[in-house]
Amino acid sequence: MRVLTGIQASGKLHLGNYFGAMKPMVELQEHHELFTFIANYHSLTSSKDADTLRQYTIDAAVDYLSIGIDPNKTTFWIQSHMPEVLELYWILSKFTPMGLLERAHSYKDKVAKGIPASHALFSYPVLMAADILILDTEKVPVGKDQIQHVEMTRDIAIKFNNEYGEILTLPDHLVQEDVATIPGIDGQKMSKSYNNAIDLFMDEKSLQKRCNKIVSSSTPLGEPLEYEGDNVYALASLFLNDEEKLELQARYKSGKEGYGHFKKYLKELIWEELGEAREKREYYLNHMDEVEDILAQGAKKASAIASAKMEKVKAAIGL
Ligand code: TYM
Repeated sequence: MRVLTGIQASGKLHLGNYFGAMKPMVELQEHHELFTFIANYHSLTSSKDADTLRQYTIDAAVDYLSIGIDPNKTTFWIQSHMPEVLELYWILSKFTPMGLLERAHSYKDKVAKGIPASHALFSYPVLMAADILILDTEKVPVGKDQIQHVEMTRDIAIKFNNEYGEILTLPDHLVQEDVATIPGIDGQKMSKSYNNAIDLFMDEKSLQKRCNKIVSSSTPLGEPLEYEGDNVYALASLFLNDEEKLELQARYKSGKEGYGHFKKYLKELIWEELGEAREKREYYLNHMDEVEDILAQGAKKASAIASAKMEKVKAAIGL
């Protein structure tokens, strides 16, 4: 089964990216043919200057490798190093009704947040469809916010196939329910643009500071605390098995500890989870030539598949 996903290079990667997309990928690479890339063409829609985009792109690549993407098992590249995808993007535009794009939640949310409503932002889902369809992807592991984009990809592919024959493979999204939407420090979906994210790689002190900012209710110390609906509990439980969750619930109910204790505990959990990744990151940051080499190999392999696919697509439509 061919699995593909992408992640934008628009700032530091956070716990939402980690649980929603990166960790599932690291698990999936053990048993499936995996393709993943840094979506820098997509990031361009919200980028302000060249140096920042370049830096975010390489940072995201380093972080992804540090988390455990294994270049011996997974094809990993930077989106703009496989420009064939832009050719398919244009062709797919012809099969994309305006109404479909007008219904995109992500577009509406971004414009509501003040990102200028450019054509690139509007047609963002078509480029995402091209990413997916050019490599005959079967499964797309994503967080809940991206489900609609995968559904749109299917709609576009069905329209193409209806008119020109069964050329494109219809993909399905793969969403792990328990990590479908990771909350940020304010309880809304964690997102770079909501300013509520907990970044993956912070020094220990800043991480504790960030955890301390998590919004919780103001129950006085000595009274039992409600774990249900509590953001600290929701985030901590991502790291725990069932038995550990019950233990944490008991600590909440006992009334002996306050939110400050649980925020410290959460910091410990995050810090511990990422220990190995921090070491790998140190390594890659000191071996950037290795990172560039991995990305170049990945782009070469993905491009070979993509250009073969483009030949079929072009032949089918008369280009
Ligand atoms: P991006 O960069 O916004 O997010 C990358 C991945 O992280 C997931 N995610 C979350 N999951 C759970 N809870 C959260 N709070 C949270 N925040 C982010 C996202 O669902 C996503 O899986 N358009 C995509 C990138 C992309 C792509 C693709 C993905 C471009 N082409 C092709 C799949 C296939 C995006 O903006 O992801």
